[in-house]
Amino acid sequence: MDQFTGKHILSVKQFDRDSIQTIFSTADMMLPYAKREKRTRVLDGAILGNMFFEASTRTRVSFGSAFNLLGGFVRETTGMATSALSKGESLYDTARVLSSYADVIAMRHPQSGSVSEFSQGSMVPVINGGDGANEHPTQALLDLYTIEKELASNLKTIDNMHIAMVGDLKYGRTVHSLSKLLANYDNITFSLISPKELAMPDEVISIIEDAGHRVIIHDQLEGNLDADILYLTRIQEERFDDPAEANLYRGQFRLNQQIYTQHCKSNTVIMHPLPRDSRSEANELDTDLNLNPNLAIFRQVENGVLIRMALFALTLGVSDQVQQHECAVNWYSNKSISK
Ligand code: NCD
Repeated sequence: MDQFTGKHILSVKQFDRDSIQTIFSTADMMLPYAKREKRTRVLDGAILGNMFFEASTRTRVSFGSAFNLLGGFVRETTGMATSALSKGESLYDTARVLSSYADVIAMRHPQSGSVSEFSQGSMVPVINGGDGANEHPTQALLDLYTIEKELASNLKTIDNMHIAMVGDLKYGRTVHSLSKLLANYDNITFSLISPKELAMPDEVISIIEDAGHRVIIHDQLEGNLDADILYLTRIQEERFDDPAEANLYRGQFRLNQQIYTQHCKSNTVIMHPLPRDSRSEANELDTDLNLNPNLAIFRQVENGVLIRMALFALTLGVSDQVQQHECAVNWYSNKSISK
C-alpha cells in the first residue's frame, strides 16, 4: 500500500514536498475529465458520504462533483439540525454508522478537531472539509496548486515568493492550512496583514518561522500590497462569540481595481478562498476586479475539482487506473472550449 491508499486526510501536516507533487501530478491528469473532453468510470459503484455539518457551497458541491466525475455516487447530509448529532449521538458513533454506507467520507464540522475525532470511528478514509478554525487541507492544496500555476506563468516559483495574507488570520482555517503547507518550501516572505485582534495564531507563525521563512506582521493594507500573491479572506463572523463583534472588522481591508493599479505589482495574483463578502459594509474584493487577468479566484474554484478528484483517486487506490476506465462524452459541452 502506498502513502495515500486507505488513509485519512485530516491535516496538511501529513504532506511533504514529494507527496504534494504526487497530488499535483494526479490533479493534472484529471483535467480532460473535468473539462468533459472524456469521461472515466474508475469509481463506478463507489459511494462518497458527503457530510457537511456547517455552511458550505463550493467545498461540498466540488467534493460531490469530483466524485461523480470519477464515476462514483454521492450520499449527502447537510446541517446539524437534520442529523442525529443533534440528538446527542457522538461523533464516533455517527462515523461508525456512516462509514458502513460509504467507501470514503468528506466531512465539515464547526468544531476544531472534530473531523479527526470522527475519523477514529470510521472504517473508511475521511477527508477533512474544514474543522472549525483549525484546518482546511483540501483548500490549501488547491490554493497551492493554483499558486504554482499562476507563478509559473510569471516565470516564478513557490520557493522565494512573497505572499501577503489579509483579513481574518485568527479564525480563517484556509490561511492556517496554507501557511503550514508552504512551510515545506524555501525562502518565502509572509506578510500577515490583519487587525491586531485577528492575528495569525502563534502556533502557525512558529511553524513557518522554524522552517526558515520570513514573517512580517502589519495591521494596514497600505504600503503592503506589492507581493507576488495577495490572498484575501473574509471576516469569519460565525466564529465570534458575539457575531456583532465581526462588524468592528468588516470592511477594514478592501481591494478594488484602483487600489490594485496604484499599489500592486502589474502581475500580483489576487486570490481568495471564497465566498467573498460582497455586502457594501465589507466588499473586501470589489467586482470591478472581475476582468483583471490576475484575479485567480475562479481558477482556484476549477482547480479545486481537480485536486479533489486526485485525492479521491489516490485515497481509493485507483490513480493508475483512471485512463483504463475511459469513455466518450456524448452530450453537448462547452467546457472543453476554454479553461
Ligand atoms: C472557506 C472556509 O469554509 O473555510 N471557504 C471555502 O471552503 N472555500 C473560507 C470562508 O468561509 O471564508
